[in-house]
Amino acid sequence: MVSRGSFSLSSPFFPLLFLFAINGFALLGSTTRLELIHRNSPKLSGNVVLGGKPKSQMEIIREFHRRDVLRHRNMVSRRLRATETASSVAMPMFSGSDYGTGEYFVHVNVGTPGQKFLLVVDTGSELTWMNCRYKCGRNCGTHKGRLNNKRVFRADRSSSFRTVPCLSQMCKVELANLFSLAKCPTPLTPCAYDYRYLEGSAAIGFFANETVSVGLTSGRKRKLKNVLIGCTESIHGDQGSFKGADGVLGLGFSKYTFTTKVAEDFGGKFSYCLVDHLSPKNVSNYIIFGHNRIETALLRSIQRTNLVLGGAFGPLYGVNVLGISIGGVLLKIPHAVWDENLGGGTTLDSGTSLTFLAEPAYKPVTAELNKSISKFERLSIGGPFEFCFNSKGFNESLVPRLTIHLADEALFEPPLKSYILDVAPQTKCLGFVSVSWPGTSIIGNIMQQNHLWEFDLERSTLAFAPSSCT
Ligand SMILES: *[C@@H]1O[C@H](CO)[C@@H](O)[C@H](O)[C@H]1NC(C)=O
Ligand SMILES: *[C@@H]1O[C@H](CO)[C@@H](O)[C@H](O)[C@H]1NC(C)=O
Ligand SMILES: *[C@@H]1O[C@H](CO)[C@@H](O)[C@H](O)[C@H]1NC(C)=O
Ligand SMILES: *[C@@H]1O[C@H](CO)[C@@H](O)[C@H](O)[C@H]1NC(C)=O
Repeated sequence: MVSRGSFSLSSPFFPLLFLFAINGFALLGSTTRLELIHRNSPKLSGNVVLGGKPKSQMEIIREFHRRDVLRHRNMVSRRLRATETASSVAMPMFSGSDYGTGEYFVHVNVGTPGQKFLLVVDTGSELTWMNCRYKCGRNCGTHKGRLNNKRVFRADRSSSFRTVPCLSQMCKVELANLFSLAKCPTPLTPCAYDYRYLEGSAAIGFFANETVSVGLTSGRKRKLKNVLIGCTESIHGDQGSFKGADGVLGLGFSKYTFTTKVAEDFGGKFSYCLVDHLSPKNVSNYIIFGHNRIETALLRSIQRTNLVLGGAFGPLYGVNVLGISIGGVLLKIPHAVWDENLGGGTTLDSGTSLTFLAEPAYKPVTAELNKSISKFERLSIGGPFEFCFNSKGFNESLVPRLTIHLADEALFEPPLKSYILDVAPQTKCLGFVSVSWPGTSIIGNIMQQNHLWEFDLERSTLAFAPSSCT
């Protein structure tokens, strides 16, 4: 692995961020809108016991940061080749702020007849897997007895379950990125994986194609066939990583992720809209697979830029940033910061909460914004942010606005509250975290709030517009 930035890059993967939950399917025109529920929502009660009292805003930010850093390590340590990817599917996601974390879950139906599971959702993860049991005779090499007291997918009871043979090209080559194992005692033995997470846990099982159902906005269910899933027979290490869920829904970009599969069936597009992280519980985020009927009002303000898929960013979604201006003045930032081939580059990551800037960008951005807060009392509150202040008397309208200039003349103008963050009563901080150079910059999900983001995987374009997400 190539080490970039100050992080040590030992473990391969950390897919536990930006987790959302589906609670059935809401109806919305002709698209499917699946409801995503936060981990502590009463809507999940009975399913899982997910501890943790609501935390203070500052604790939440610290928790975000801890996870973001783990994710960033993983992000820069991966070099994956990416791959290519008609109608539609949507899932709302709730703001995490009322609950103490940004984690979400989703309910999906797997197999024929369908068996229902609660999965942790992660946009940076490629493999969708669930705890699973499969009685398939001597050649399976199963690991028994490790999933006591867990809900498991009974694969042998599903008529649509098809294991991926270990001798296949798919197992030997294409699934190598997903930690497929080389062992192959007989040609038909299922292709095994040992899927490692950065936190030290591992999911061990084998790959299969299976039918997964999603709800359409018409109220009907749509079956997605041949979705690659992992039948996880044992979990090693810290089982708490999976937070009581039955598995993980992988929404990263690569050939076999759930996103790609659903997008294939629904026009190559998916979109999401994130409400303010301080929104009340009853305002929900959502994700839509397929064509999103963008309102006419939004169409006028829509911006489009090229998406950087594959290459240096692995399963994450890259964008070409050209520069950052504040108050209409372009800041002096070396070009290399935005170039993934020169050690920089930027991803738009819904799984990272905070926004990370490589140091040569972080310095001028914070120095410029620092001028606007010069007359406020400075506060050292610890945590990830360097610039915090007592916000008594703070007047938003006096602060020059920040604009991120993207390729194809697209301008992203986040609302001020997305980068001058409330972290405690009367306490605000400049919402940027420094990454040592060279390093990848990340536009995190707080920065993305109050915008609709549409990813067109076929055309490799990203469209966005300000939106209340309702
Ligand atoms: C699994 O699905 C893929 C397409 O996603 C297909 O190419 C492959 O042949 C299928 N394998 C089996 C064993 O069904
Ligand atoms: C959400 O709840 C608040 C009060 O808690 C209420 O004023 C608001 O109308 C609700 N919004 C929706 C969309 O239900
Ligand atoms: C930020 O502003 C304060 C007050 O004007 C100043 O003392 C400090 O040096 C500035 N810091 C940076 C990094 O520009
Ligand atoms: C903020 O500044 C603007 C422009 O100077 C002014 O019109 C407005 O009244 C101020 N708001 C507050 C709350 O002081």
